[in-house]
Amino acid sequence: MALLTLKTNIKKLSGELSVPGDKSISHRSVMFGSIAHGQTRVTNFLPGDDCLSTISCFRKLGVMIEENENELFINGNGFSGLKESNEILDVGNSGTTIRLLLGILAGRPFFSSLIGDHSIGKRPMTRVTAPLAKMGAVIDGRENGSFTPISIRGGKLSPIQYELPVASAQVKSALILAGLQAEGVSTIIEPAATRDHTERMIRKFGGEIQNENGVITVSGGQRLTAQSIHVPGDISSAAFFLVAGAIIPNSEIVLKNVGLNPTRTGIIEVMRQMGAKIEIISMGDDSFEPVGDIVIKTSNLKGTVIEGELIPKLIDEIPIIALLATQAEGDTLIKDAEELKVKETNRIDTVVNELKKLGASIEATDDGMIIRGKTALTGGTVSSHGDHRIGMMLSIAALLCENEVSLDEPEAISVSYPNFFSHLDSLI
Ligand code: S3P
Repeated sequence: MALLTLKTNIKKLSGELSVPGDKSISHRSVMFGSIAHGQTRVTNFLPGDDCLSTISCFRKLGVMIEENENELFINGNGFSGLKESNEILDVGNSGTTIRLLLGILAGRPFFSSLIGDHSIGKRPMTRVTAPLAKMGAVIDGRENGSFTPISIRGGKLSPIQYELPVASAQVKSALILAGLQAEGVSTIIEPAATRDHTERMIRKFGGEIQNENGVITVSGGQRLTAQSIHVPGDISSAAFFLVAGAIIPNSEIVLKNVGLNPTRTGIIEVMRQMGAKIEIISMGDDSFEPVGDIVIKTSNLKGTVIEGELIPKLIDEIPIIALLATQAEGDTLIKDAEELKVKETNRIDTVVNELKKLGASIEATDDGMIIRGKTALTGGTVSSHGDHRIGMMLSIAALLCENEVSLDEPEAISVSYPNFFSHLDSLI
């Protein structure tokens, strides 16, 4: 696609939006629908490229999935309903698809072959392939199972006792999904709390899983039953408009029905810490996933330090938080975020390099970045580098720019937010 000219010099944003369904929960709704017994109905499913890759993989594994405009019907026949595919399973750009799928396939007594796009080819898979091999799966791949293409022959699994070397919900979830197929009780220990959508899904589908201070235990052989799932709005998508509302003058934006799972709300904590006028106006008391409306107004912001156990609660929001920090008085320091280097791009490099092009004062460190505010943003040609969240962050940055801004590789945005630009236009 050609360069996209972004809107600049915006003096006000106002209105109300329902951001699309949560990406993490949408993936899991297809996966759990596929391994449960019966027909699962999903509403507000995110039709982003990543979640469509998950649907395509499960169809290739023999699951009947019907889609209409607003609903998805998944006809599951338990783990044993999955069948060997005569095609390669292509996960596209989706790390969640490949890592969780490997956990499911580890217990299936057949051969599968998995690939993804250029970015997936650079993302580390040993973090899942090593523990899954320990449980009994036979896995191979480029550089000894470290990178795609990856092949897996699953089978009878032993339970695992495993301390995660990195705080990763994808790794935790892959091991839980394998643990559901093992003979006995698996124990997974997290170094810091990560998103718990997999655990909530298991309970929603009638299964049992315990989490006592980061020690997660799950038994194999549980029978899961089909459910009706309504996917809440994605706080990681809402994040772009939370920041836009805070940094564009004269703004007030209402974001409706946003998922407020406490393992995902780090951005709200940080924005409040920085002085943002942010209000949550209605909390749903759904035990599956909490939901609420969020109001954001133009705010006077100050720099802060973001580190430690907060990082996993806002890991995907760091690109947009970096932009927020360019508009705060004083320095913002982001630490303990090495994981950014193995996301869809190396997000320490892409955030720092692209924001610099627009005039920000920002420097990379070994485990994060330092942003010095407040700086006026100018303009220029920037690139998403094929990373959806970098593309959206730069589109919000452009709103503040005085000069023209062109975005290369804007199509990446459809990975998680296909109607991002029409939503943005509706607020201008
Ligand atoms: C996700 C977990 C996180 C997050 C990703 C989605 C998930 O990745 O960055 O966008 O749905 O489990 P890690 O597990 O690599 O931290």
